[in-house]
Formats: sequence, C-alpha cells, structure tokens
Amino acid sequence: MNILITGGAGYIGSHVTEQLIKNNKNNIFILDNLSTGRKILINKKTRFIIGDIKKIKLLRKIIKKYKIETIIHLAASLNISEAEKNKKKYFNNNIAGTKNLIFACEKSNVKYFIFSSSCSIYGNVKGSVSERNKAKPQSYYSFTKYKGEELIKKYSEKLKFKYAILRYFNVAGASKSGKIGEIEKSHGHLIKNIAIQYLRKKPKLEVYGNNYSTKDGTCIRDYIHVSDLADIHIKSLKYLIKKRKSLILNCGYGRGYSVQEIVDIFKKIKKNIIVQYKQRRPGDVGEVYSNVIKLKKTLNWKPKYNSIKLIIKSAAKWEKKLKSL
Ligand SMILES: NC(=O)c1ccc[n+]([C@@H]2O[C@H](COP(=O)([O-])OP(=O)(O)OC[C@H]3O[C@@H](n4cnc5c(N)ncnc54)[C@H](O)[C@@H]3O)[C@@H](O)[C@H]2O)c1
Repeated sequence: MNILITGGAGYIGSHVTEQLIKNNKNNIFILDNLSTGRKILINKKTRFIIGDIKKIKLLRKIIKKYKIETIIHLAASLNISEAEKNKKKYFNNNIAGTKNLIFACEKSNVKYFIFSSSCSIYGNVKGSVSERNKAKPQSYYSFTKYKGEELIKKYSEKLKFKYAILRYFNVAGASKSGKIGEIEKSHGHLIKNIAIQYLRKKPKLEVYGNNYSTKDGTCIRDYIHVSDLADIHIKSLKYLIKKRKSLILNCGYGRGYSVQEIVDIFKKIKKNIIVQYKQRRPGDVGEVYSNVIKLKKTLNWKPKYNSIKLIIKSAAKWEKKLKSL
C-alpha cells in the first residue's frame, strides 16, 4: 500500500512510520516542512518530500504521482499557549492545512484517512471521558483539532474515504529501538521536560498551576507511550481495510495522573530536584483522562508499555542518546 504520512519527521509520525515499516511491506512517503520535525527522525526506508500542507497543488501532485491510498495526517502546530497568542498561524496550519489535504483527495486513490486529533477537544471533564462525550474545546489549539475532525467527517462520504479519528491523550516515551524520540522542546510536554532535567546536575521543574479543582490542585492527564500509540495506528488502518467502516477512538490508558504525582515519582529518581509552582498556562484544562472501553473492544488492543515509570525511563534514555547524536 502507498501511504502518505504528513508530519512524519516529527515525534509521533516517526514512531508510526517505524511500526508501519516493521509490520508491512508498505511504500511510505513522508511530507514534512521540518518546522518542528527533524531529518534524523526520518526513516531511511521512506521517500521524504520536504513541503507544506498549506500548498494544495503540491498535495494534489504527491497524491496523484505516488498513487496514495492511505493518508496518516499528523502535521500540525501543537503548542497550546502559542495558539492562544497566534490564532492565525494555528488556523492556517491546522484547519486550512487539513482542509487542503482533504480536498487534495478528490479524484484520487485515497481510501483511508487517519487523523491525529486530541483529547483536548473534550475540554475539562471530571471522571473518564468516552468518545460519546460532546466536544467542548476550551483552547484555540483544541478548536483547530475539533474543526479538523468535522471537516474529515463532512467530506469523507463525498470523497469516498473511510476515516479513523484518533484522539490522542498525552503522548510520551520513546521507541525501544533507540533511534527515535521526542526532540522538539517548545511544546511544553511534562515528560519531555522531566527527561531533560534528568540529565542535569541541578534539576529544576516548573509546574504550571496548582489551584485547579483536582485532588492536589495540579492538572490531571492520561499518559500513553508513543509505541503503544503507534500500534493503535496500525490496528486502526487494518480495521478500516477489513471493516470498511469509519472510526473515532480515544487513545490513552484510562488512568489519570496529576502533575504532582508524576513529580513525586520523579523525585524518587532525582532527589535533588527543585520544583517551582507557576501560573496556569493559557488554554490548559484541569482534568482529562480517557475511557478506553471502545479502544480495547474495537481493535482488540492491549497496551505493552502502560507503566508511568517505564515511560519516564524510556524518555530519559532517549534524552541521553540525543545528547550524543
Ligand atoms: N504529542 C502529544 O502529546 C499530542 C497529543 C495530542 C495530539 N497530538 C497531535 O499529534 C500530531 C503530531 O504531534 P507530535 O507530538 O509528533 O509533534 P511534532 O511537532 O514532533 O510533529 C509535527 C510534525 O508536523 C510537521 N509540520 C507542522 N506543520 C507542517 C506543515 N504545515 N506542513 C508540513 N509539515 C508540518 C512538523 O515539522 C513536525 O515534523 C499533531 O497533529 C498533534 O496535534 C500530539
């Protein structure tokens, strides 16, 4: 199968690519503008095209020339605070870019479309959240993801593709292969920050907000290992091919950890850590973690790396490797 992965030079895209290559004999094409992606994350067994999803002519050309049948669309901007300040950038990249990609599927061979959405579309939810919950995006970034979903749903029938909308919870960790992991620091991801601090002599961690209405005042999130998430993409694609039915899935483990709990786990590994409590970040919600009943049932999926300690260790191991690259 000919598969186009937008954002394939990024953190999650490189893990999805690695597993697709391991699992199947696919021809994989990566489109990435390298804004936050890196060349060293691009799998050598793929064909890399440097380019932007904002260019619809380029998208049409690629889809036609390489007879693309599946699109896995990960390219996006994803800094929640930045999105509040620069809505135009996020509109153009995440909404208009996704629309371009959908429109470029017209009169093509594209049959399957997988989209990386986000748990943030649910807003703040007490207790686990299922796919049936109504979307209540509370930040501009999550609004762009919600709009992306709506566009895909709206045009899928007309353009005759089946879709899998995957609502990622908080993605962390790195592949066992040691070849890929998260590089970009600007997204403000907790586990990435912890991994960076792990290597420092005088580690310091900033916690944004300790006055949320949660058990200890810090934000609650559901952390999923990136290799488990990549596996969900492979299984979703198989589902689309076999069942010819579209799909919306929450991608988490179903366990909410507060930032404080994660910090306390890290404190056991790095005793001299200094923790600073800062203002809330614009756009962040207090609590969101996944109900995973549908995920497990539909894909017959079982996580392999669902241990927060293992996730932290794997992120730290990658960070160490990254320093030597
Ligand atoms: N990391 C998470 O915890 C998380 C959670 C929910 C959803 N997501 C979604 O997952 C996807 C991948 O995120 P990631 O964590 O791998 O981040 P990332 O920054 O590593 O990956 C994004 C990739 O897209 C590329 N890109 C951005 N704009 C582009 C454009 N206009 N044209 C071409 N390429 C472009 C970047 O260069 C980068 O390689 C994003 O859509 C993000 O919204 C991530």
